[in-house]
Amino acid sequence: MTYETSLATVVAGCPLSSCLYNASGPLCTTAAELDAVGSSEAGAILSKSATLEKRQGNPSPRYFETTWGSINSMGLPNEGYRYYLDYAKRAATFNKPYFISVSGLGFEDNVAIIRALSGQEHVSAIELNLSCPNVPGKPQTGYDFEQSRVLLEMIFEHVTTPLGVKLPPYFDLPHFEMMAAVLRDFPIAFVTCINSIGNGLVIDTDQESVVIKPKSGFGGIGGDFIKPTALANVRKFYTLLDKDVAIIGCGGIKSGMDVFEHILCGASAVQVGTQLMREGVGCFARIAAELREIMGGKGYRDIDSFKGKLKTLE
Ligand code: SIN
Repeated sequence: MTYETSLATVVAGCPLSSCLYNASGPLCTTAAELDAVGSSEAGAILSKSATLEKRQGNPSPRYFETTWGSINSMGLPNEGYRYYLDYAKRAATFNKPYFISVSGLGFEDNVAIIRALSGQEHVSAIELNLSCPNVPGKPQTGYDFEQSRVLLEMIFEHVTTPLGVKLPPYFDLPHFEMMAAVLRDFPIAFVTCINSIGNGLVIDTDQESVVIKPKSGFGGIGGDFIKPTALANVRKFYTLLDKDVAIIGCGGIKSGMDVFEHILCGASAVQVGTQLMREGVGCFARIAAELREIMGGKGYRDIDSFKGKLKTLE
């Protein structure tokens, strides 16, 4: 007997036919870009992080690719949250969940946006971005545990739609515990690990120069080099949080094997950023086929068969 290999999963109570979708970052700002994700094999559509009003973002050049990944300092260019709310009706035509990412420029902005999005038809869930490293003068809230708690208290007074958070990468074991202690006090639906590694530098040695303009060349690092950090963050939050909180892996995903590793660490789904920018929305079908092949070879029929089952050495 042959069995179909299923990549189906559940995030924030929503069934996804595939555990792969886009990161809130590249190619999810305009309706045309969101349509392309909707028409692809991605299991969900996630918007670019929305602010209260439309933003142009930082001056260009603000994105640069190297063989190992990318550096960006986009500065949250987006159409403003009303645009992504208006898009929800169109998103529904793709028959997959539609998530809106929110990154208000201050706590009051976040509360106002989330109040407006909450309970709206066709908005499946909200991903609150606590980790954008690229807005000059704005610290990453996720690195301040007390301020993260204050913001979540303000937000959970108003939200009825399932809400998850996108975290920055943590590197020190006590910091995982500290953020988990904050998150445990709220009905968080999912945790996305990780945003880019903030404030890296890429150098053009011919020009003896940085490669992006904003913040004197400092920007968020994505791609291959961040996968070990992403896996560590997925693993830690999977072990520290209740199992009904879905962990969404993000960082260094360009092949089926990368997804397999994220799921083994505990991810319920994964997001693709740098590779989506490189390859376009065709990456979802290609990576899904590679993952099915790996699962088939190992005798796994669904992702729950190996999710979180990473072994340690005796
Ligand atoms: C950006 O727009 O600067 C990237 C978004 C993010 O890192 O959260």
